Amino acid sequence: MTAFLRFRTASPDETRALPPPPPPALSRGGFVGFEGQLGSGKTVAIQGAAEGLGFDGYVTSPSFVIVNEYEGRVPILHVDLYRVADAEELSGIGYREIFFGDGVALVEWADRVPELLPPDRLRVVIDIEGPNDRTFTVSGFGDGGARLLTRLRESWPQDEGGC
Ligand SMILES: Nc1ncnc2c1ncn2[C@@H]1O[C@H](COP(=O)(O)OP(=O)(O)OP(=O)(O)O)[C@@H](O)[C@H]1O
Ligand SMILES: [Mg+2]
Repeated sequence: MTAFLRFRTASPDETRALPPPPPPALSRGGFVGFEGQLGSGKTVAIQGAAEGLGFDGYVTSPSFVIVNEYEGRVPILHVDLYRVADAEELSGIGYREIFFGDGVALVEWADRVPELLPPDRLRVVIDIEGPNDRTFTVSGFGDGGARLLTRLRESWPQDEGGC
């Protein structure tokens, strides 16, 4: 059974205001993959995380360059894989520096490249429930995954329990 955490937000501002996941998810070498259909709120959630990491600039989907870098307390690599077809395509463009580099990688459409994802990571799946309602389902992978979820339960009070 995979442990997960689930909660809802009722507005973009509420999503933006979510506390960022604690270290090690959001520290150097951390990786958070975001999944969910177009317009589900991946970029909005990353805006909130980047702000929580001390970046106060403009966060927008890096659709055409694949990665934007922001300077927060740690380097933030905001990646959008929407236009990447598969792992083979991404392998050809030096993704290792981004996924396994010196910053925290916040990756939209991470499910495009399941074979390439770091073993230690956080997965955030966003479902659209209504015009302003979103359900977040968060799970952790790797050794630190369970520990991370315990800490997330403390910082995200909307938790509905998960299992
Ligand atoms: N509770 C909510 N949380 C986040 N966004 C919301 C919420 N309710 C409504 N929205 C709206 O949903 C849209 C989410 O857009 P966003 O660009 O973050 O999606 P995305 O998942 O990154 O899409 P894409 O796959 O195109 O990159 C915005 O227009 C936002 O205002
Ligand atoms: Mg986006």
